[in-house]
Amino acid sequence: ENTLTPALRYILPMANRSGGLPLLMLIFITWRDSMRCCAVTADPPEDLAILDPGRLGRLEITWSPPSSLMNITKCLLQYQLEYFNTYKNRWETLRMPGRTYSAQFDLSKDVQVRVSTILNGECTNNTAIKSKEYTEVVKKPPSTGIWDTEAKEFMCVYHNMENLECTWTRSLKTPASSLQNLYFWHKSLEQAVECPSYILSDGVRMGCNFSGKPLPEFTDIYFCVNGSSSEGPLKQAFFSMQIQNQVKASAPDKLYLQTSSDRQLEFYWTNPAGRLHVHCLEWEVRHHHVGADGKISLNHIHTKTPSLTLLFSDSNERHCFQVRSRLNSYCVDKSFWSDWSHETCHPVLENVKVTLEPELNFVSVYIYIAVAIIVTLVVLLSVWATINMRRAGLEKKVDSLLPKLLTKHFTQGVSKIYSGKKIWTDVII
Ligand SMILES: *[C@@H]1O[C@H](CO)[C@@H](O)[C@H](O)[C@H]1NC(C)=O
Ligand SMILES: *[C@@H]1O[C@H](CO)[C@@H](O)[C@H](O)[C@H]1NC(C)=O
Repeated sequence: ENTLTPALRYILPMANRSGGLPLLMLIFITWRDSMRCCAVTADPPEDLAILDPGRLGRLEITWSPPSSLMNITKCLLQYQLEYFNTYKNRWETLRMPGRTYSAQFDLSKDVQVRVSTILNGECTNNTAIKSKEYTEVVKKPPSTGIWDTEAKEFMCVYHNMENLECTWTRSLKTPASSLQNLYFWHKSLEQAVECPSYILSDGVRMGCNFSGKPLPEFTDIYFCVNGSSSEGPLKQAFFSMQIQNQVKASAPDKLYLQTSSDRQLEFYWTNPAGRLHVHCLEWEVRHHHVGADGKISLNHIHTKTPSLTLLFSDSNERHCFQVRSRLNSYCVDKSFWSDWSHETCHPVLENVKVTLEPELNFVSVYIYIAVAIIVTLVVLLSVWATINMRRAGLEKKVDSLLPKLLTKHFTQGVSKIYSGKKIWTDVII
C-alpha cells in the first residue's frame, strides 16, 4: 500500500472513522486498475478527413494513427468512430481496427465525425484505454442554392411491386424558369445516376418514372433533387428509402359472391396477377348492409385471407362489399393501401337497375320516334283530307255553278271557259 496517493492516505482514516470503508475499497480498486498502465498515454488520431466521391451523401472518412504511437510495440491500436446519423437523427458509435469508414449523410445538414484512439494489449496490461480527447470534423452543408427552393413532399410509390414512381412538389420560391433533376444512388452503383424518365406536368418536371430501370429492394436508395434556374442553383434536397416499403398494390379485381343453402354468404376475391405474393397481402373489406327493416350499417373488416363468410338471415336484406389490399408487416415494414375495388352486392339489385335503365331509355326513345312518326302521319293525313275536302267542296260549288255559267256565258264564247282545264273536262263528262 506504499503506492497510495496522498489524497487517498488522507481520505482513508477519515472514511474509517465514518464507517465508509466499502466505498473506499471501491475507489481504491478503481484507482489501482487505472494505475496498472501508466507507461503509455493514448493520443487522438490525426489527419481526419471526409471525402465525397459523388454518391449522394455516401462519404468516406479516413484518419491516421497518432504520431506519438507510431513506434510503439506490443500495442493493439483501435479506433472509436462516432458520427451523427442525419437520416436517423442520432449518434452512431462503432469500434474498429481500420482507418477508413463509409457512412451515409444528408448533405443538406451538418456532417459531424469524431474519432478517438483505443489502446489495448501488453502495452496497457490488457486493459483497453481510450484517448481522453477525440479528433473532430464538422462539415457545414454548401451554402449554395436559393433559399427555400428545395423539392418538397418527395414520395415514391412502388406500384404492384413492378413500377416505381417518385414525385415531389416545388417550393413557392422556386423560380418559374427552374429545371429540376433527380439523381439516385445505391450500393451497387459506382456513381449517382439521373432519372431515366421524368414525369411532366404542364411541361414542368414533377416526378420520375423508373419503369425501365428496376431498383433493388431491401437496400437503401438515396435520392437527390437539385436544379438550376436563371436566378442561380436551387437548394438540393436528399431523401432515402427502401422501395419494398413503398408498395401500393393494385385493387382486387375479381370479386365473387356466393350463397349456400345453409344461409351463408361467401365473399372471396383475387388480386391482379403481379409480383405480390398472396401470403404477403392483407385486406380490408367494406361491408355495407341494408337490413330488411331498411336500417343501414357500414363495417370495416380486416382479414388475412382473401375470403369472408357471413350469415344472412333474411332474404330481404342486402349486402354490398368492396375490398382493398396492402402488404402485411411480415413481409415489409410498411406499405400503402390499394384503391378500393368495385362494389359487388347480394342480391344484385343495383346492378339490375343499372343495366335496365339504359334499356328503358332506348325503349322510350323508340316509343318517342314511333309516336312522332304516327303524329306526323296523322297530321299529313288530315291536311291531305282537308285539302281534298276543300277541293271536293270547290268542285261541288263549281258543279253547281257550271250550269249557270254555261247557260249565262256559253253563248258569249267558249274560249273563256277553256282557261279552266278541269272545268273543261268536267264539262266534257
Ligand atoms: C502491469 O500490471 C502489473 C501489476 O498488475 C504491474 O506490475 C506492471 O508494472 C504493469 N505494467 C505496465 C506496463 O504498466
Ligand atoms: C445535381 O446533382 C448531381 C449528382 O450529385 C450532379 O452531378 C449535378 O451536377 C447536380 N446538378 C445541379 C444543377 O446542381
